Amino acid sequence: MNNINHIAIIMDGNGRYAKEKGLLRTFGHKKGVENVRKIALFSNKKGIKVLTLYAFSTENWKRPLEEVNYIMSLPKFFFDSYLKELMENNIKVMMIGDINKIPEEAKNIFLEAIEKTKNNTGMILNFALNYGSRQEIVKAIKNYCQDVIDGRENNLSEEEFNNYLDTKDLPEVDILIRTSGEQRISNFLLYQISYSELIFTNVHWPDFNEEEFDKCLHEYQNRHRRYGGI
Ligand code: FPP
Repeated sequence: MNNINHIAIIMDGNGRYAKEKGLLRTFGHKKGVENVRKIALFSNKKGIKVLTLYAFSTENWKRPLEEVNYIMSLPKFFFDSYLKELMENNIKVMMIGDINKIPEEAKNIFLEAIEKTKNNTGMILNFALNYGSRQEIVKAIKNYCQDVIDGRENNLSEEEFNNYLDTKDLPEVDILIRTSGEQRISNFLLYQISYSELIFTNVHWPDFNEEEFDKCLHEYQNRHRRYGGI
């Protein structure tokens, strides 16, 4: 699998998973965060270099406060439970999105995990948290304009533009997976997925196990990426 550098996942369907079992949506999110551990460890074992997970979008603030608060408590659960294991597996935690607007506790827990794992050389586990792709692009344009005003830049190329994005240090996204049946991108990595293979699966995120993940990898291997050529 060493030809796959970067997989991004829209982890959808936690709510529907819980509803189908007659349980609260928060139950689905709890199972969802447990599944983050499973899929991160599996991806690392497969030699994938970066796994970017859409954990919370800029639009997710519109959900009921109780649900938002519950999701914001999950970083504590996740890192309290699994940071030791992430360290043992040499996994490096990163994040993209606007961290300054997330509640203090979740923010500090993330910053601490990023700091503790910064020298790890295995897979990068990259969380998109309070992330929105349009906002990221607008921010990049504003920062570029400021650099022009300040005389640091005057001739923008694709490569340079990439340096203004939150993903600047990460390789191209090879595969974007969305679980739970919806076939849309929902403001995730719009610029970065220009040439990615898109894979949609009906499985809800908490049920997206190693076998389902492998099916996506095989699907990817069977596609022929032409990058606009023939
Ligand atoms: C989408 O399912 C899921 C989310 C908006 C939250 C996902 C978050 C996690 C799995 C945990 C993140 C982990 C950390 C460590 C931050 P949905 O609620 O939209 O499901 P539905 O479409 O079935 O309602």
